[in-house]
Amino acid sequence: MMKLAVLISGRGSNLQALINACAEDGFPAEIVLVLSNKADAYGLERAQNAGIPTTVLNHKDFDDRESFDAAMSAKIEEADAELVCLAGFMRLLSDSFVRQWRDRLINIHPSLLPAYKGLHVHERVVEDGARFSGCTVHFVRPAMDEGPIIAQAVVPVLQDDTADDLAARILEQEHVIYPQAVRAISEGRVRVSAERVLIEGSDLPDGAMRNPAG
Ligand code: GAR
Repeated sequence: MMKLAVLISGRGSNLQALINACAEDGFPAEIVLVLSNKADAYGLERAQNAGIPTTVLNHKDFDDRESFDAAMSAKIEEADAELVCLAGFMRLLSDSFVRQWRDRLINIHPSLLPAYKGLHVHERVVEDGARFSGCTVHFVRPAMDEGPIIAQAVVPVLQDDTADDLAARILEQEHVIYPQAVRAISEGRVRVSAERVLIEGSDLPDGAMRNPAG
């Protein structure tokens, strides 16, 4: 079983998708820690309901990003986690944290990266009149929302979509591809070569795949 630490800042619906996946028979991972930088994150309740240990580290209690990240690393190591999953964790990470967890640190972002990095993604997509958007699971690198792509799902943008409509349609797919990516990694089928992801047992040639489990 791959031991996961999930880092959150809020609602935690992707955390819930991972909790549900881990509860399925034969899923090769378990969540050993949920860590939040916000004491009022709803995701903490989801974790507690599932009997998963939680920790809150308030970034405001630390002098700088480095010391906050070092405290997070210590908690993750203490829990013996092998893979760190960012799930709506809305803090930038220091280079040293990203380096320490390189290729063991993944993120989900609600766009088809490398398009639409950063915040207010859905507003920007709707404003631009893009026909498609989606979501991406990727290994984390020091630059925000960058890194080798593990899984993506494409979602159409409808003419009368508001940003909220689009966000909801994409979120459903996030809940599909995040557990799939975690499964593939936990099964040891994912590797990074020349900053592209190769997934064993997939019929697609590289990291552009939608469904790493398939
Ligand atoms: C998700 O849509 C996730 O993709 C996004 O925050 C939301 C968290 O929702 N993450 C980012 O924008 C990271 N750049 P959740 O707390 O319900 O999982």
